[in-house]
Amino acid sequence: MKLRTSILAGLGALLASSFIGSALAADPYPNKPVTLVVPFAAGGPTDAVARLIAIPMGKSLGQTVIVENTVGAGGTIAATRVARSAPDGYTVFIHHMGMATAPALYKKLQFDPMTDFEYIGQVVDVPMVLLGRKNFPPNNFKELEVYIKANKDKVTLANAGPGAVSQLCGLLFMSREGVELTTVPYKGTGPALTDLLGGQVDLLCDQTTQTVPYIRDGLVKTYGVTTPKRLSALPNIPTLDEQGLKGFDVKVWHGMYVSKGTPPAVLAKINKALNAALNDPEVKTRLAESNIEIVPPSKATPAGLKNHLESEINKWGPVIRKAGAYAD
Ligand code: MLT
Repeated sequence: MKLRTSILAGLGALLASSFIGSALAADPYPNKPVTLVVPFAAGGPTDAVARLIAIPMGKSLGQTVIVENTVGAGGTIAATRVARSAPDGYTVFIHHMGMATAPALYKKLQFDPMTDFEYIGQVVDVPMVLLGRKNFPPNNFKELEVYIKANKDKVTLANAGPGAVSQLCGLLFMSREGVELTTVPYKGTGPALTDLLGGQVDLLCDQTTQTVPYIRDGLVKTYGVTTPKRLSALPNIPTLDEQGLKGFDVKVWHGMYVSKGTPPAVLAKINKALNAALNDPEVKTRLAESNIEIVPPSKATPAGLKNHLESEINKWGPVIRKAGAYAD
């Protein structure tokens, strides 16, 4: 009886281990949809890039990549959600340089960009444009400078909250002009652009991702691009630098992350999917139309993103602290 029990127990253990073994073998990552968390509102620039790359990433992974917008607090709510997610590769995060500005901007941050994440790679670099509503009186940058100084109490400047690049660009612009305008925060520049087009706000510094067609069609006024060189998609729009704001240089880099402890094999699969998306002909064409630059392969790597993030934290921290900008 004793012998029979132990034989049965042994057989049971053998069966269980071979079952677990075959289940693991038949269950490689990913075996269910992957969520791509976007830290700003749907219809905005980060969302647009995420939705564009989600499809070819899904093809590479063999699973659907679902975009989820977790909005608020300049992307820090989404970053906290991802930092606390299971390290299994099913919660992927795309965020821009707000990951580097948040540590200096936020007094209490619930995550550490340098210790709470694994890095997949850099994604794209996006220039910005300073826009005004169509019927805003100043017709060019020189007129804008005069107008905002004379009307600083009534001019409104939209942004996507503390930690957003629209806020950073607006802060740099106001500090260079020596004026403080009334800022109007949104949950992303998607809704902010809608209000600019509707004439509810006066100014917005936004990425080119969705603004190029409105600029070309004259539905907004465009006062300058934020990069030192003019953009091929908008060759007639002067830079802010060439119009007097020497050295004005804001280009928005984006990175992809998962939570700390995600296994290397999973990281490798997500990185492969990211690079497949960045090499997708349809993605390339669509991004080029908006003057969005795909990063070179050496930057679409974990080390490429980690090193860049670290240098950007060191770059923006002193600038933000000097400007006295902070958020609760
Ligand atoms: C967005 O996707 O809405 C933007 O990236 C927000 C911003 O940072 O300005």
